[in-house]
Amino acid sequence: MTTHLDGDGAAPAYHRLDLPEPPPGRPYVMINMIMSADGRTVIEGTERGLGSPTDQRLMRKLRSLADVVLNGASTLRASGSSSRLDDAALEAARAERGRARVPTAAVITGFGDLPLERAFFTADDFEAVVYAGATVPPERLRAIEATRRRVFRLPAEAPLPWMLAHMRRELGARVLLVEGGSATNGALADLGLVDEFFLTLAPRIVGGRDALPAVRSDRPLSLDRVAALDLVSAAPNPQTGEVYLRYRVRRD
Ligand SMILES: NC(=O)c1ccc[n+]([C@@H]2O[C@H](COP(=O)([O-])OP(=O)(O)OC[C@H]3O[C@@H](n4cnc5c(N)ncnc54)[C@H](OP(=O)(O)O)[C@@H]3O)[C@@H](O)[C@H]2O)c1
Repeated sequence: MTTHLDGDGAAPAYHRLDLPEPPPGRPYVMINMIMSADGRTVIEGTERGLGSPTDQRLMRKLRSLADVVLNGASTLRASGSSSRLDDAALEAARAERGRARVPTAAVITGFGDLPLERAFFTADDFEAVVYAGATVPPERLRAIEATRRRVFRLPAEAPLPWMLAHMRRELGARVLLVEGGSATNGALADLGLVDEFFLTLAPRIVGGRDALPAVRSDRPLSLDRVAALDLVSAAPNPQTGEVYLRYRVRRD
C-alpha cells in the first residue's frame, strides 16, 4: 500500500497513475488538496505556508495528467488560478501523447466578480475558460467576455452536471482535476461527482475556529450520506514530513 517515492526521493510517482475510463458523459473527476494535520486548508486567506516544494511538484504532476484544471471563483480571487506545469519535461510528455502542452484552466462563478487583471485572464501560455452561473449579472458577463477568454453559461438547474458534460463533449476532457476550494469540492462531492481524492497531509497545526476544511457544503450531516473512500496509496515523505494520500471514492 505504501507508495515508493521517486528516484530523487522527492515525490510519489503520480505521473504513472493508472486511471480508469471516465464515466459516460463526463470526465473522471479528481480533487487535489493540501490540508494541515488539524484539517485546515487555509492560513491567512490562502493555502500558502502549508505545502513544500515537493507538494507543489506533485500538484504539477497531477495537472499534467488532466485535460482541465478547475478552481472555484473564491480561490481565483484569493490565490490566483492557473493550470501551468512550469516543467518542460512534463509539457513535452503531454505533447508526445498528442495533448496540449498545458491543460486548460477553468473557473466556476455564481456572481461573476472576478479579478480580470490576473494571469488567469491575461496569460497566453495556457488556455482558460469560465463557467458562469445563471446568476451572473449581464454587465459582469460582458466584462469577463471582453478578456477574450471563452465563457460558458451554466443553466439554473443542475449546473454542475451540465458543466461536466460540457467539458467532456466540447472540451474533450477525459480527466478533470479540481484544485478547490472547499466549497467547489463540496458541491461536486454532494452530487457524487468525485472519483478520486488526492490529499497531502501537511505536518502543521494551524488552529483557529473558522479555517476551511478540504470539503465543505451546507448539506445537513447524515450518516447515510457519508462517502466511503478506498485507500489507493499512501506515501510518507521523511524529508518534508508530508504524507501523500490517494483515495478512490467507493461506488456500491
Ligand atoms: N489547501 C488547498 O489545497 C487549497 C486549494 C484551493 C484553495 N484553497 C483556499 O480555499 C479558499 C477558497 O475556498 P472556498 O471554499 O471559500 O471557495 P471556492 O470553492 O474556491 O470558490 C467558491 C465559489 O465558486 C463558485 N461556485 C462554486 N460552485 C458553484 C456552482 N455550483 N455554481 C456557480 N458557482 C459556483 C462561487 O463563485 P462566486 O463567489 O463568484 O459566485 C463560489 O462562491 C481560498 O482561501 C484558497 O486559498 C486551498
